This record gives sequence, structure tokens and C-alpha cells, in this order.
Amino acid sequence: MSGGELAILAENLTFMYDEGTVALRDVTFTAGHGEFIALLASNGSGKTTLLRNLSGLLEPQEGSITIDGENITDLLPARLYTKTGVVFQNPDDQLFAPTVHEDVAFGPRNMGLAEEVVESRVVLALESVNALELRHKAIQHLSFGEKKRVALAGVLAMRPSILILDEPTAGLDPAGESGMMRLLSRLNREEACTVILATHSVDMLPLFADRIYVLKKGEVLKSGDATDIFCDHEMIDRAGLRLPYISALLHEMKQRDGLPINGLPLTLGEARKRMLELIPEEILLKKLKDSVC
Ligand SMILES: Nc1ncnc2c1ncn2[C@@H]1O[C@H](COP(=O)(O)OP(=O)(O)OP(=O)(O)O)[C@@H](O)[C@H]1O
Ligand SMILES: [Mg+2]
Repeated sequence: MSGGELAILAENLTFMYDEGTVALRDVTFTAGHGEFIALLASNGSGKTTLLRNLSGLLEPQEGSITIDGENITDLLPARLYTKTGVVFQNPDDQLFAPTVHEDVAFGPRNMGLAEEVVESRVVLALESVNALELRHKAIQHLSFGEKKRVALAGVLAMRPSILILDEPTAGLDPAGESGMMRLLSRLNREEACTVILATHSVDMLPLFADRIYVLKKGEVLKSGDATDIFCDHEMIDRAGLRLPYISALLHEMKQRDGLPINGLPLTLGEARKRMLELIPEEILLKKLKDSVC
């Protein structure tokens, strides 16, 4: 694929912080239009540094980045920030206005939109993250999870075509975590938004990610779909990661107990199907009859 056909093409990036830490080494990364991509890596592997390079907040010492085929260094900040929306790891680094409404309105107002358009964007963005009832609240009174959702609303109000999110589910409760992933998946499928996120939510990824990049010490160890990634046990160990819990259980039962399961199920749904295949048909039919009677 050429750079023009991709939402993002980053080639051979090397990034070193001022005091000498090399946080990215010869990283090549692509995101096709409408793809949902996850960066999966242990702490300190370079996820945040890569996302900051892709969003123009840091400049690599070596390598190049194109967004929709245009070199990132040629894009004026105003254009770059309407193409890419960035949600930081810590919402306190992002939120700065006194109230939720003012914060979410800041981006569209800065784009020079008419006040009624700004207003409708604020309402829609807050509705989509399920936070409209927070609109008159002071930012400093929000809980951590509420701040995460409001930070995302502020970015959505700018309607970027590429969403870059640094650990959007970190620190959220289980309902908040799956709610956030479902929202991102909806934006990806229904609004054709390209989604690139760093995450430790291993159990959720097989449900949502088209492609996963695994990093270690600033280098890409592997990229591929969830099956390519999680079936490579040696690489998962080397990266200091783990399998989704359901896959780990079934892998263990295959290896240690000889359970004759096909492939490696990555989700609860797949695991259930594979387990049902192991139950003799007559037992299933009897269960079905019993439940009807
Ligand atoms: N501002 C900075 N100055 C110097 N070194 C930094 C700076 N920011 C990050 N680093 C170093 O760069 C490396 C990569 O850090 P980065 O924050 O990109 O990792 P990460 O994968 O996002 O980690 P985490 O999962 O903990 O968020 C680490 O070794 C870190 O210590
Ligand atoms: Mg990080």
C-alpha cells in the first residue's frame, strides 16, 4: 500500500528523549482507513512515545510519518488537529476549562464554528460518551472515569477521522471498560473512524482489534490479527504479556489434560462453541428435550 491509501504510514521511526533514552527504534507502523489498531506492550515499551509521534506532539529524530498521504511536518497544526484527535493517558493533562461544557466546546469554538453548531456538537459528543448530565459540572469535581469520558468527548466534538487514544480504559471499572471499548468500536464501524489505541485490556482486544502491534523496548516485535499474535506463545512471553484469560485456560487444558480442542479460542463466545463441539450430540439433544418439557 502507498502512503496515500493509508490513514497513517510511519516508516523507520527512531525517537530519543533529551537525556538519552531511545524510546523508539526503527519502528514502522501503518493504519488503513477505518482500521481498529491496538498497541499492546508492557510498561515503558514506547506506546505513549509512538502515539505522540503519530499525533505530531513529538518529532522523531529519524524516519517519516504521513497522514492521509501528506507528510506530518507539512500539515499546519490546525489541519492536523482536525484530522487526528488525541486522548491522553492521563485526563488531567487534557482537561483545563472550568466546566465540562466549556472544555468540550473549546475545540469546535477554536475551529471557528458558529455558536449554535458548537452547542450541538457539545451535546452530541457528551451524549455519545454518556456524560450529558455532567455538562454543568466543574472539571475538578469529576471522578476519574468521568474525566476520561469527558476528555474523549472534547476530542469527538472536533470530529477527527483518526482517533488516537492512550490507554482509554485504564483505571475504569469493568462496565466502564467494556462501555468505552463498545463506544470506540461503534465510532469505528458506524462513523468510519480509524482508531489507534494503546491498551493493557488483553481480554477485550480479540473482540475489537483488526490488528495488534506488540512492542518491546521501543521495537515492534510483531504485528498481526489477534490469532497471529496470541498463537505466538514464545513472542507473548518475550514481550512480558499474557494470553486472554479464556485462551490461557483452554490452552492449559489442551496441553496438560489433552482436551481435543481446535485452534485457540480467544473470546468467551468462541470458547463456548469449541466446548459445545466436545459434548456428544445425544447429550445435547437430551438437554434440549428436558428444557422444552
Ligand atoms: N519525557 C521523558 N524523558 C525521558 N525519558 C522518557 C520520557 N518519557 C518516556 N521516557 C522513557 O521512554 C521509554 C518509553 O516510555 P513510554 O512512556 O513511551 O512507554 P509506555 O509503553 O507508554 O509505558 P506505560 O505502559 O507505562 O504507559 C521509557 O523507558 C521511559 O522511561
Ligand atoms: Mg504510556
